[in-house]
This record gives sequence, C-alpha cells and structure tokens, in this order.
Amino acid sequence: MTILVTGGAGYIGSHTVRQLRGEGRDVIVLDSLERGNRDALLGAPFVQGDISDSALVAEVCRKHKVQSVIHFAAYKSVGESMIDPAKYWRNNVQGTVDLLEGMLKADVRQIVFSSSAAVYGNPDSLPIREDAPLQPENVYAETKAVMERVIHWHGQTHGVRWVSLRYFNAAGASSDGVLGENWDMSTNLVPLVMKAALGASGPVKVFGNDYPTPDGTGVRDYIHVEDLAIAHAKAVDHLTAGQDNVTLNLGTGCGVSVMEIIRETESALGRPVPYEVVGRRPGDPATVYADPSQAHLVLRWTSSLDMSKIIASAANWHQSRMRE
Ligand code: WQD
Repeated sequence: MTILVTGGAGYIGSHTVRQLRGEGRDVIVLDSLERGNRDALLGAPFVQGDISDSALVAEVCRKHKVQSVIHFAAYKSVGESMIDPAKYWRNNVQGTVDLLEGMLKADVRQIVFSSSAAVYGNPDSLPIREDAPLQPENVYAETKAVMERVIHWHGQTHGVRWVSLRYFNAAGASSDGVLGENWDMSTNLVPLVMKAALGASGPVKVFGNDYPTPDGTGVRDYIHVEDLAIAHAKAVDHLTAGQDNVTLNLGTGCGVSVMEIIRETESALGRPVPYEVVGRRPGDPATVYADPSQAHLVLRWTSSLDMSKIIASAANWHQSRMRE
C-alpha cells in the first residue's frame, strides 16, 4: 500500500514524507521542484513532474500500486496570489482537477488534502470550529476553499474519499535539525524573525501593535510541522479504515502573539531580535486560533509540541544552516 505525496519536497510535505517512511510506510513523491528542494527528500522514492500531467499521475499510481494520495502541491503565498491570481487558479485549482483525473484513471480514490485555516478569513467567533463560515480574504485562501469543493464533488460523482486538513500556522523544524523551512521561500513570521535575529536581514517588521490583543500584536495558532506530519499519517489510516469524509482543523487551540514569538526567539538564541513596528498588513485578522477538538476525536490526534519547542527547533535549524 503505497502513498503518493504530491509536493513532498516542500516544507510540510518533506516532514510528512519523513514521518511516513519512519513508520515503515511505502511512499512515492511527485514534485516539480519548482519550489521544492530535492535534498529535503532524504532519499525518498521520487518522480520529478507536475500534478497537471494526469497521464504521469496515472502512470505513477499504477507503477507504484498507490492506494492513497496526500496532496500538498500548491502555491501558498498570499501576496503573490493577489498579484498574479491566474497563476494560483491554474496551479492550485486546475492542478487539483488534473491530479484527480490521473488518480481516477488508475482507480485511486483516497486523498488527504492540505488545506488551510486561511479559508476562514477574519473569524466571527473564536476558537474557530470546522463549521465556521468560509470567508477567504485573498486568492490563495479562495483557491484552498475551491480545492476543497473540487475534491468534495469528486466524492459525489466518482466515489473519491477524502480528508481535508485545515492547518493553522505551520512553523518549526524537525527536532533533530535535519529538515526545516527555507526562509527565502517564506513570508511567514517565524522564519522572518529568525532571519532578523541571525543578521541575515534587517529588522523584522511587526505589522501593527494596536490590535485588540493582550500586547497589541497579532495572535495566531502556531502548530509544529512534526505534529502536522503525524496528523497526515493518521488521516491516511482514517480513510484506509473506511471512515467517513471529514474536514478537520489542525491547530493547538492556543493563540500566541507576534511579540511572544519575538521574545521566545530572543530567549532561544540568547540575542535580541531587531524589529520595528509598522502599520497593520491589510487583511490581517487580530486573532486566529483553532478549536482542534474534532481532530482529537476523529483522528485521536493532538498537538504535542508547544511554542517553545517550535521556536527552539526553528532556531536550531536556521542557526545550523547559517553555519553551512
Ligand atoms: C502571522 C502573524 C502577521 C510577518 C498565512 C496564510 C495562511 C498560512 C500561514 C499557508 C500575523 C504577523 C507576519 C511579518 C508580522 N499559510 N507578521 N511581520 O498571515 O497568519 O497566515 O500564513 O497555509 O494560509 O494566510 O501568517 O506568518 O504571515 O503572519 O508582524 O513580517 O505575524 O501580521 O499577525 P498568517 P504570517
């Protein structure tokens, strides 16, 4: 029973591939390497190609006797999606349609989908439950919501069975420092704080400190990438066991502010984080954090690595890359 991992050379994908192989599962990775890193595969079986090539997808599924797919391959920059929306509709949404077409050609009907808490936009209430209204605030988030619906309707029309996992803020690196995030490919807070702290950039910009939060800065639910990887393995088992289609929030249920991330980073690195407070970033909600109780119930999964572990692992990873 092989698992096809699309985008397995990416940040969360590579941690998931490592988790699956560590559990003794057979994996085949399909990645275009347009934004992935071959080194992050750690020798996993790999085919370089695009999910839009449905004939290739079908061939890989047949050759490797794939039973389940974990679908990470997508563009994920909020800012880029608002500058070049067509690129996101084509790659993220049409790419998912093409992937599913290839899967069906090979009679593969189980998919775990990498969705995002961004589909909730600015939440009306907290913590966020899976039945909260979907109100994406950017094209990237909208593509994730549409991808969920494309997969849902492939379930209705062709019996595809699925789990959609809505990540909150993925962060951190592997505890042993072997895998981590490429700060040159990210606009997310944690890698940018690390970059500033390690002198690889100017001061990190704090987007507003006048929010209605305890210290005035934005609050998010940071979830360790290794906790996310474990959830994906459990989602595959959920489908293989014949359980129902489900959409699940993957978060800790705890909100952490920008300044708390900065202070924790200073403590982990033993040095100040240069920062400057600037205006709010348009579209940013003040506070976002998950109600992860459904994931606890359905997958018997809960996060185990808290903010201090996230920051310690990220600091270790980025410091070691600076020394390379
Ligand atoms: C976190 C907090 C910012 C950068 C986005 C996507 C979401 C997911 C994660 C893919 C906010 C503040 C940030 C900076 C800052 N991606 N910040 N200075 O916006 O919560 O979520 O990335 O799935 O889908 O929407 O993450 O890391 O950009 O911001 O002050 O240089 O840090 O205002 O409060 P976000 P983020």
